[in-house]
Amino acid sequence: MPVIETVGLSRTYDSPAGPVPALIDATLCVHAGEMVSLIGPSGSGKSTLMNLLGLLDRPTSGRYRLNDQDTASLGEKERTRVRSHTIGFVFQAFHLIGHKNVTANVALPLMYVRHKRSARRPLSEEALSRVGLSHRLQAMPHTLSGGEKQRVAIARATVHRPALLLCDEPTGNLDTVTSNTVMGILADLAKDGLAIVVVTHDHAVAELTDRTLVVRDGKLSDHVST
Ligand SMILES: Nc1ncnc2c1ncn2[C@@H]1O[C@H](COP(=O)(O)OP(=O)(O)OP(=O)(O)O)[C@@H](O)[C@H]1O
Ligand SMILES: [Mg+2]
Repeated sequence: MPVIETVGLSRTYDSPAGPVPALIDATLCVHAGEMVSLIGPSGSGKSTLMNLLGLLDRPTSGRYRLNDQDTASLGEKERTRVRSHTIGFVFQAFHLIGHKNVTANVALPLMYVRHKRSARRPLSEEALSRVGLSHRLQAMPHTLSGGEKQRVAIARATVHRPALLLCDEPTGNLDTVTSNTVMGILADLAKDGLAIVVVTHDHAVAELTDRTLVVRDGKLSDHVST
């Protein structure tokens, strides 16, 4: 089943110097169970596309179906609701809350979806076990390694069982060995049915995904390996 389906998606920013066509006619389909990487030079339009896919921004033109639902017709409230139920976000800088322990960090997104308070802890522990951190449930973030922090961030981004996981440079702060571990965890989550889009500038990381798309000057194309 397609989780992401875009047709001719475009985003032009207004700037004092005139319009900036940051994304031009992007057509893309990502299925459940698939992990796709986006590579491309700085300023090519990767974040622009991720912001549209994450419902953080609206396209200037084109269509975006998320989980079989046309997103153009959604009002601001519905967009927020769809975002907090259907999408998870992972960033380069982990963004854990320093004074809360690992389980409490992971439980945070559950405050925005309708869940019994009593279900929060078991769901959080399940998410942490999926990333191999069942032995660190009570740990404070500052006692974790970079790779462990990113695994907590992944648990937090998936605790509500989203259909789509958007990752912006998830391995940007990690060494090669730890990057591979984190990419392995993402691959396992994809195998479980999640659709994942990973922005990376690291070709070795892109190689670990099912398919790589290149963004250049706002245009999306399939990666042709050389
Ligand atoms: N809010 C904005 N207003 C005007 N121009 C913008 C805005 N956001 C991005 N741009 C421009 O749109 C183009 C694409 O930017 P985008 O942030 O999508 O690139 P990127 O591929 O994510 O780059 P990086 O790898 O550096 O993160 C760039 O030319 C950028 O300057
Ligand atoms: Mg960017």
